[in-house]
Amino acid sequence: MTASVDGQRPEDTPLLEVGDLVVHHGQLKALDQVSFQVFPGEVYAIIGANGAGKSTLLRTIAGLHHPTSGTVLFDGQNVTGLRPEHRARQGIVMVPEGRRLFESLSVEENLKVGATYARKGPWTIERVYETFSWMRDRRGQRAGQLSGGEQQTVAIGRALVANPRVLLLDELSLGLAPVVVQRIYTMLPQILQTGLTVLLVEQDVSQALRVASHIHCLLEGRTTLQGTPAEVTAEEVEEAYFGLASAVGATPHARLDADGQSGKGSEPPWRG
Ligand SMILES: Nc1ncnc2c1ncn2[C@@H]1O[C@H](COP(=O)(O)OP(=O)(O)OP(=O)(O)O)[C@@H](O)[C@H]1O
Ligand SMILES: [Mg+2]
Repeated sequence: MTASVDGQRPEDTPLLEVGDLVVHHGQLKALDQVSFQVFPGEVYAIIGANGAGKSTLLRTIAGLHHPTSGTVLFDGQNVTGLRPEHRARQGIVMVPEGRRLFESLSVEENLKVGATYARKGPWTIERVYETFSWMRDRRGQRAGQLSGGEQQTVAIGRALVANPRVLLLDELSLGLAPVVVQRIYTMLPQILQTGLTVLLVEQDVSQALRVASHIHCLLEGRTTLQGTPAEVTAEEVEEAYFGLASAVGATPHARLDADGQSGKGSEPPWRG
């Protein structure tokens, strides 16, 4: 979709760097030594089955979970110990799983909430209305009365008005019809044009492969595969996702098949 879809890194310095992250929920090790770098302008996708640790990862980057060990660097600075609102001020903003709008508040009131820790930047409530014109017409309506897709869009708008540098998107497609998911993902180029970097979580692998410049698969908290969509084969993704065989991954980048074919073109079973 964007300049980086062919796997070329737009710049050499990572905007976000996660190093050896270990996160526990009580006794459960939800993330185990997860490391990766996200470069400016990328759409970096975390994929994985239920319980793989995807939300834990995004929430830890946003400052909502404290890691047992490991680091989160943002623009070269160690933000591992920063509170969520301080990270937001630096430009780490999340659209949480399940959208989490204030349902009894209006659309506009929800957008105002998003502006609470806003940085200066191109996104304002007005800009959100220009981008999603239906929202202006319905700005006085209670968020709880909107459809799921509309609510997801308001949740994105609420994050945008904070003027993120990296936007963390946790399962935009959750509970939405495929056509609605498509519509939501078609907004991404407009969002990226304003200079944003996106780190997204998706269970819908085909969707992730369509939009991402880089994918990273988690299985039970561990990295099983990393690479560009062009580098990974459908078989590798399937194995990494479901853990069907000994992990292909844990290599920095997935390679082509032995016969030199890339996975592009061969369809994994979940592709419709
Ligand atoms: N607050 C919590 N307390 C205890 N366990 C948790 C908590 N949050 C997540 N877990 C557990 O940690 C593991 C990872 O959960 P997480 O929500 O990060 O996975 P996920 O990949 O986002 O899954 P899903 O696709 O279902 O959203 C799961 O086993 C989950 O049950
Ligand atoms: Mg989740």
